[in-house]
Amino acid sequence: MTSFITGLPKVELHLHIEGSLEPELMFALAERNQIAIPFHSPDEVRAAYQFHNLQSFLDIYYQGANVLIHEQDFYDLTWAYLLRCKADNVVHTEIFFDPQTHTERGIAFDIVVKGIHRALEQGRETLGISSQLIMCFLRHLDQDSAFATLSQGLSHKDKIVGVGLDSSEQGNPPEKFNAVFQQALTEGFLTVAHAGEEGPPENITNTLDLLGATRVDHGIRCVEDAALVERLVREQVPLTVCPLSNLKLKVFEDMKDHNIVELLRKGLRVTINSDDPAYFGGYMTDNFQAVADAHPMTQEEIAQFTLNAIQASFICEEEKQRLT
Ligand code: HPA
Ligand code: ZN
Repeated sequence: MTSFITGLPKVELHLHIEGSLEPELMFALAERNQIAIPFHSPDEVRAAYQFHNLQSFLDIYYQGANVLIHEQDFYDLTWAYLLRCKADNVVHTEIFFDPQTHTERGIAFDIVVKGIHRALEQGRETLGISSQLIMCFLRHLDQDSAFATLSQGLSHKDKIVGVGLDSSEQGNPPEKFNAVFQQALTEGFLTVAHAGEEGPPENITNTLDLLGATRVDHGIRCVEDAALVERLVREQVPLTVCPLSNLKLKVFEDMKDHNIVELLRKGLRVTINSDDPAYFGGYMTDNFQAVADAHPMTQEEIAQFTLNAIQASFICEEEKQRLT
């Protein structure tokens, strides 16, 4: 099964580019940009990655992003991730970035987008990996800040396909961002949002009904509402599930407890993704392998995750046909 998983073409739909910052690159950028970080070695950074919930991760994750200053830093970050995609046979990836994590520190929106986009273009040309870019609003900040971010994104519509919503779900429900998502839809952006990761199933329902989301990031708490599960099957709403992330952030205590295979067998359009691979200990192949090790599956079932991801992606219909 290992060689089947390694060779399987993969499509990633839930990846925070800031979460692909490996400790070695963090160290190199800290030195290059003369930024102080509270660690002495990459191993010490890795040792600090012990999380007990989403917030304990976010605190260290936003701190890590402080080393990203120049366009070249965002390019280097994205290029390193694309090389990992190549190694894992990821043929298409849809990448989140968090503009406010950078603009709040005085880094211009344009610098961030240009660095990421340049690497994505090079990935398309030299690695044959296609991609899309999605800007996420930080849900712990207010809606005015999200509106300001949306307006900065307008001059980059050629590079940004959609908007998303991430950061602390508890206490920051989707309805807080109803108006800015409506505006984003009016501007022609597709919408997605994290929901039902740590928050209740109502967040999934409201993400669909109030934010116009075409897919739900995580969504694993849907199982607590049978009617919602039925709806997700009926409407074939994609869930971008991140198994190793859920394990690291204690959403599930053990991979054997994870519900992704149960959801697949119920007929939901579930996909496997890496979320923040540098922090959660694995890229795409590692996530597929971890699920398969804990839940014996047929090759057809494993391949279904890729077929689901192709259908759930933002690539055009002809390209979907070609990949299927
Ligand atoms: N959830 C919420 N916010 C995030 C995540 C996540 O899994 N990763 C990066 N920001
Ligand atoms: Zn995420």
